[in-house]
Amino acid sequence: MLHFPVLLEESLDFLIHKKNGKYVDCTYGRGGHTQSILNRIDADAELTSFDKDLDAFNHAALIKNKNFNAIHNSFNKLENTFDKETVDGILYDLGTCSTHFDEGNRGFSFLHDGPLDMRFNVTKGIPLSAWLKKATQKEIMDILYKYGDEKHAKIISSSILDHRSKNEIKSTIQLANIIEDIYPEKRKKIHPATKSFQAFRIHINNELGELKESLEQASNILVKNGIIVVISFHSLEDNIVKEFFKPSVMNFPKDIPLNTIEEKDFKCIAKKIRPTEEEVALNKRSRSAIMRVFKKI
Ligand SMILES: C[S@@+](CC[C@H](N)C(=O)[O-])C[C@H]1O[C@@H](n2cnc3c(N)ncnc32)[C@H](O)[C@@H]1O
Repeated sequence: MLHFPVLLEESLDFLIHKKNGKYVDCTYGRGGHTQSILNRIDADAELTSFDKDLDAFNHAALIKNKNFNAIHNSFNKLENTFDKETVDGILYDLGTCSTHFDEGNRGFSFLHDGPLDMRFNVTKGIPLSAWLKKATQKEIMDILYKYGDEKHAKIISSSILDHRSKNEIKSTIQLANIIEDIYPEKRKKIHPATKSFQAFRIHINNELGELKESLEQASNILVKNGIIVVISFHSLEDNIVKEFFKPSVMNFPKDIPLNTIEEKDFKCIAKKIRPTEEEVALNKRSRSAIMRVFKKI
């Protein structure tokens, strides 16, 4: 399946405020945003794109452009590459690419059989199968509640424990079937494993933890008037973004005079931008996207 870049024009209209600037695409994917940034910036501008997924990095490494640099690492390593206040714009297009679900071998899909892995970066961490082998029922249940909002977390976790005592859970379809077999509601449109697979993916990749760390670093490496654009796909990501940029004045007790409090260094210049109906018709995955844009002040 082709990967369509989400909110492409909208995001780049905010991001590229200086044609000869220095930019970072934190989530290269299949290069949709990266290619368009390269088309918009001047010959003396710079773009660095990160992706922790090796397939994505290998795709990026094929780009021959002297202003472009690809890095195979997590976006929580921005400060390893950039000094304080040196970058003009940073883009995040969070989550997965459609390419992760196209083939079973990456272990993301409950529709295609494959090893139960789910790591973006297969050179680090442990696959989901290894985690499920050792996790307690409480740990599994907590992940399903916390990252999947799965109200049937208790019976799913109990069934996982029951199955793993007989056979190792090694494949995506095996896990999908375990969930489908005990799922109390039979829904036609949404596969019963949808929420669980999302929850396990977020956990195994420490998606929310790395996002928080990255935003902290992004705020340091950005120049004054620099722009951060974040496209999120679910409320857990979006809440982290909102919370991070929330003016710190809100967190102070009422008896401290307002003029002694430093506000966060960012101004929200666009919130809750969503794809048009035309974009959603063309690319169903874009329907849950929310974009927020912040300017360093
Ligand atoms: C939605 S896709 C990006 C699509 C891209 N904008 C495009 O148009 O082709 C998200 C990408 O972010 C990558 N990713 C997820 N978490 C990451 C992290 N912590 N650090 C770096 N890349 C990450 C995934 O591997 C995936 O390729």
